[in-house]
Amino acid sequence: MKILVTGGTGYIGSHTCLALIAAGIEPVILDNLSNSKLAVLNRIEAVSGQRPLFYQGDIRDAALLDRIFQEQPIAGVIHFAALKAVGESTQKPFEYFENNIAGTLTLLGAMRRAGCFRFIFSSSATVYGDPKTVPLREDSPRASLSPYGRTKLMIEQMLEDMQQVDPRWSITLLRYFNPIGAHASGQMGEDPQGIPNNLMPYITQVAIGRRDCLNIFGNDYPTKDGTCVRDYIHVMDLAEGHVKAWQVCGEQAGLHIYNLGTGQGVSVLEMVHAFARASGLEINYKIVARRPGDVAECWADPSKAQRELGWKATRTLDDMTRDSWCWQQANPNGYEEEAHV
Ligand code: NAD
Ligand code: UFG
Repeated sequence: MKILVTGGTGYIGSHTCLALIAAGIEPVILDNLSNSKLAVLNRIEAVSGQRPLFYQGDIRDAALLDRIFQEQPIAGVIHFAALKAVGESTQKPFEYFENNIAGTLTLLGAMRRAGCFRFIFSSSATVYGDPKTVPLREDSPRASLSPYGRTKLMIEQMLEDMQQVDPRWSITLLRYFNPIGAHASGQMGEDPQGIPNNLMPYITQVAIGRRDCLNIFGNDYPTKDGTCVRDYIHVMDLAEGHVKAWQVCGEQAGLHIYNLGTGQGVSVLEMVHAFARASGLEINYKIVARRPGDVAECWADPSKAQRELGWKATRTLDDMTRDSWCWQQANPNGYEEEAHV
């Protein structure tokens, strides 16, 4: 069984390829390498013993998509490929709408032409906007706070509309909370280009000496210690959630929506302390002004995924911090260009 994985050399996509291979499903990757490196393929092969088929190209390239569907017996698509930096999206809204929304439409068009109707979409907790209450359930109100968030919300709405009029579609929307961590081997992990936007890669880069000091964006939020609270989830738990979603929902036409989170809220300061515990290192930090657009608290009610998919995050905060640190130590500069084996 082959699944097309767009964005499969990226952070979450590459870990999901490992989980798919472990489940006996063959990933076929399409990625334009705008935010990932070819070396990832070597690592997937080293960890799993299987090198995924790889097409270097863009989800906006309809001719390439048609060729992939002709060349490979694709049973369905897991669609990770997107631009994902919230701050950048406020500066480059056109690029975000063009890449994420037009790209997804081009992909869906190719799927229709090929008669392939099973689709899993990487959505995000960002579609809940600034939540009035937590934990967030799948039927909590949706809103968007940035052009990036709007791309996720609009794509969800597009998919809902399409599914409603064409019951051949099996559409699964997976709303990720905050993925962190790395494969336990230390061979695969998150490799942001430039200055990290996200908390965990920033912490590990301070720990390895690539950056001096973590800026904590505000300690005056109405939370347990004044810093923002998030639902951090181990990337391998998230990866395994995709396999479960494929196995359970792939066969069922309809619209399926799941939060993938742990249900636990962790503050920025708690994360800094957890990382210190895992690494034995104190992280140099200072409190600075709030970051525009941050919400105070956001965590999932993940019970629907447990009930219906039989999926539950099992890895702890200590597993997440340990695996992130192990990856960073083994790869201080992330994935370096490697010979193609
Ligand atoms: P990532 O940037 O590591 O991976 C995305 C991959 O898509 C990259 O390899 C990039 O090269 C590729 N890509 C981008 N545009 C493309 C295009 N037009 N054609 C082909 N390939 C393209 O990001 P990630 O963290 O792995 O995120 C994967 C998905 O999950 C994204 O859709 C993201 O919005 C979503 N998501 C991520 C988070 C998070 O915190 N990481 C949270 C919620 C949702
Ligand atoms: N933070 C810092 N310093 C940093 C980086 C982050 O204090 O250098 C804080 C943020 O202010 C926030 C928390 O750490 O309070 C988590 O920030 P991240 O940037 O790691 O994650 P976000 O919750 O802001 O965003 C993530 C994804 C988005 C997605 C959102 C909701 O990056 O794509 O979750 O799902 F939209």
